[in-house]
Amino acid sequence: MLESERFKKIQQNRKCFAYIAIFVVFQIIVLSIFGATVMKIKTPNVRLRSVTVQSLNYSSSGSNSPFFNMTLIAEVSVRNKNFGHFKFDPTKANVTFGGVIVGQGDIIKARAKARKTKRMNVTIEVNSDGISDGAKLGTEVSSGNVTLSTLARVRGKVTLMKMMKKRKTAQMNCSMIVNLPNQLVYDLACK
Ligand SMILES: *[C@@H]1O[C@H](CO)[C@@H](O)[C@H](O)[C@H]1NC(C)=O
Ligand SMILES: *[C@@H]1O[C@H](CO)[C@@H](O)[C@H](O)[C@H]1NC(C)=O
Ligand SMILES: *[C@@H]1O[C@H](CO)[C@@H](O)[C@H](O)[C@H]1NC(C)=O
Ligand SMILES: *[C@@H]1O[C@H](CO)[C@@H](O)[C@H](O)[C@H]1NC(C)=O
Ligand SMILES: *[C@@H]1O[C@H](CO)[C@@H](O)[C@H](O)[C@H]1NC(C)=O
Ligand SMILES: *[C@@H]1O[C@H](CO)[C@@H](O)[C@H](O)[C@H]1NC(C)=O
Repeated sequence: MLESERFKKIQQNRKCFAYIAIFVVFQIIVLSIFGATVMKIKTPNVRLRSVTVQSLNYSSSGSNSPFFNMTLIAEVSVRNKNFGHFKFDPTKANVTFGGVIVGQGDIIKARAKARKTKRMNVTIEVNSDGISDGAKLGTEVSSGNVTLSTLARVRGKVTLMKMMKKRKTAQMNCSMIVNLPNQLVYDLACK
């Protein structure tokens, strides 16, 4: 009788250890998945969704040297895939032609909520006055298609669970063709 009871006890203890072991392994798996998904902080993605052209003036011939000026309304999107918000600082969106800055717009400080995309319209006054490469300018303006790039560096902080904070910098690098006769933007592409 004593023998069989001792045997039973050992059996029960073994079972108990097995359950604890399974539970621990299960917890480790759950925590690893949590760590690899929810707690992993990703760099937000900043791009231009659309650009419209307003008050365009340009000339490729005549008494003046070739020029263009216009107002661009650019819709910027900040896509935040994190499980916490991304709060970013104000910064500049630079529009360039052949590497030269021809316009700047203000990206105001804002916050992209967790797993959401923040959109905002940025007004950029573009003027070809600073361009020294007159030949390239003349060629593009007379072809009717001007290639512009828009660059921005958006710095901010991702906050997870109200306490974990991490700085992240998102880069925007988009190119587009502004068709002057039609005042339209073609081939808008972002990296
Ligand atoms: C510039 O463009 C605006 C709007 O398109 C137009 O009203 C204005 O007359 C133009 N100015 C010149 C000097 O071409
Ligand atoms: C755009 O160019 C036109 C023609 O040269 C000029 O009258 C106008 O002041 C310029 N606008 C801007 C905002 O530079
Ligand atoms: C930006 O401007 C466009 C065109 O006016 C409009 O359709 C869009 O809703 C605006 N976006 C925001 C975020 O205000
Ligand atoms: C301007 O670019 C657009 C889009 O790439 C193209 O369809 C059009 O033919 C180009 N126009 C000229 C004058 O090069
Ligand atoms: C935009 O231009 C400013 C200078 O006006 C410069 O400090 C900044 O680094 C530029 N931003 C990018 C993304 O090139
Ligand atoms: C933006 O993309 C262009 C085209 O690939 C590349 O040549 C350029 O170096 C990039 N600029 C920045 C600031 O990353």
